[in-house]
Amino acid sequence: MFNTRIKIKDVLATTPQEGEVTVMGWVRTFRNNQFVALNDGSTNANLQVVLELGKFEDEFLKRITTSASLKVTGIVVASLGKGQAVELKALNVEVLGDSDPEKYPLQPKKHSLEFLREKAHLRFRTNTFGSVFRIRHSLAFAVHQFFNDKGFLYLHTPIITASDAEGAGETFHVSTLSMDKPPRSEDGSINYAEDFFGRATNLTVSGQLEGELGATAFGDIYTFGPTFRAENSNTARHLAEFWMIEPEMAFYDIEDNANLAEEFIKYLIRYVMEKNADDLEFLRTRLLDEEKQKPQAERSELDLLQKLQFVVDNKFERITYTEAIDILLQSSHYKKKKFQYDVSWGIDMQSEHERYLVEKHFKKPVIVTNYPAAIKSFYMRMNDDGKTVAAMDILAPGIGEIVGGSQREERLDKLESRMNEMGIPTEELWWYLDTRRFGTVPHAGFGLGFERMVQFVTGMGNIRDVIAFPRTPKNAEF
Ligand code: 4AD
Ligand code: MG
Repeated sequence: MFNTRIKIKDVLATTPQEGEVTVMGWVRTFRNNQFVALNDGSTNANLQVVLELGKFEDEFLKRITTSASLKVTGIVVASLGKGQAVELKALNVEVLGDSDPEKYPLQPKKHSLEFLREKAHLRFRTNTFGSVFRIRHSLAFAVHQFFNDKGFLYLHTPIITASDAEGAGETFHVSTLSMDKPPRSEDGSINYAEDFFGRATNLTVSGQLEGELGATAFGDIYTFGPTFRAENSNTARHLAEFWMIEPEMAFYDIEDNANLAEEFIKYLIRYVMEKNADDLEFLRTRLLDEEKQKPQAERSELDLLQKLQFVVDNKFERITYTEAIDILLQSSHYKKKKFQYDVSWGIDMQSEHERYLVEKHFKKPVIVTNYPAAIKSFYMRMNDDGKTVAAMDILAPGIGEIVGGSQREERLDKLESRMNEMGIPTEELWWYLDTRRFGTVPHAGFGLGFERMVQFVTGMGNIRDVIAFPRTPKNAEF
């Protein structure tokens, strides 16, 4: 048996004791031929391994370099040094894998996030990414905990589909046809009848439509999976491959939907504050350092932990789209022509508008409802005014839109006429429309962008730094 190790996090939580323990991990630093800072990814805190001077050959000590992997057996003793209560007095040290310091790409110093993106295969070995990915894990776990406790069913919706759930036409095609010489129909178009699925297919942009099928049988379901969008948005908030959580609930109206979304977001934050206190503290300090580079006026009033606490403690603001537009029009920001994009009823708010609302005006998350039908998806429920739909976006400080959702149009005639107006093929979505034919019910749901949630909790400014291997325009390395 090889794996006799104890995780460093657990060793650091113990007190000096008799008996040997074994740890395994990667060298962060090695000082004075005596002190190894060993890390195994269970925590940012390194275990100080002390090698007695003269006990090990010089040739052997030379192999203890940054990122070499070690197996160390020793005794947990009280530490004389600062920064840790215990350390490991090494009895036996084995190098499992050497790491040539001339060639290892990361130096034991601070690297920029941009540089680390180019080295995404090794960046997990840094403190920042250690913290971010442990928190990402916790958030994923908390998602399942939250819905499981509420009796929601976890539905696995397909990755490959023949529909475009958002109707935005931003899909990645999936095909096994020859790219050079695809089979053609008589009119010259590609003949997808000869393709693998016998029709044109794409990677899913959302599991919602299938989610609605689940909700109209199980009542409450959620999905949690990867979704794909071929939108050419090179921003700090967009990925071509991102993870989304989509709960869908029968017998819910828009207000029930908003209540659930608010409760869910607060639960996720609380969960991480409880389980990942060390990692949050590391990121809080990191962010304060980063902010020191900025002019005073641009620094945030609250640090990361204060911000999270504030969100958990306060009710989200709830306003309609029409009220949001009024606030923007009344703002001195607008009057001084500081928005790049114009404001009027009917616009699809730009992120500068959303950020003004949450960061400058309300200074907290805002739930905006009842958007103009013309700028929202076909499945959203038409309000009695005939102009707006029961849509709901949640805007978060520093992020902008973090949740998009709605009450669904459950009335078959209204849904069909909206689809016809918007050019959504009703024949292809016959199975979706069947839910409205057979026992239709008021229902609602939303999608939380998982990476945007991780950004919010970790304070990371760029979405590329909260997913292991980001997929963005012109980038699919690793
Ligand atoms: O607002 P969206 O497009 O809504 C839907 O897909 C609905 N089907 C959800 C539903 O009602 N079940 O996307 C939902 C959320 C956004 O609010 C945002 O947080 C995230 O998904 N998102 C992205 N995250 C990263 N990169 C992108 N390109 C994203 N597009 C949307
Ligand atoms: Mg949206």
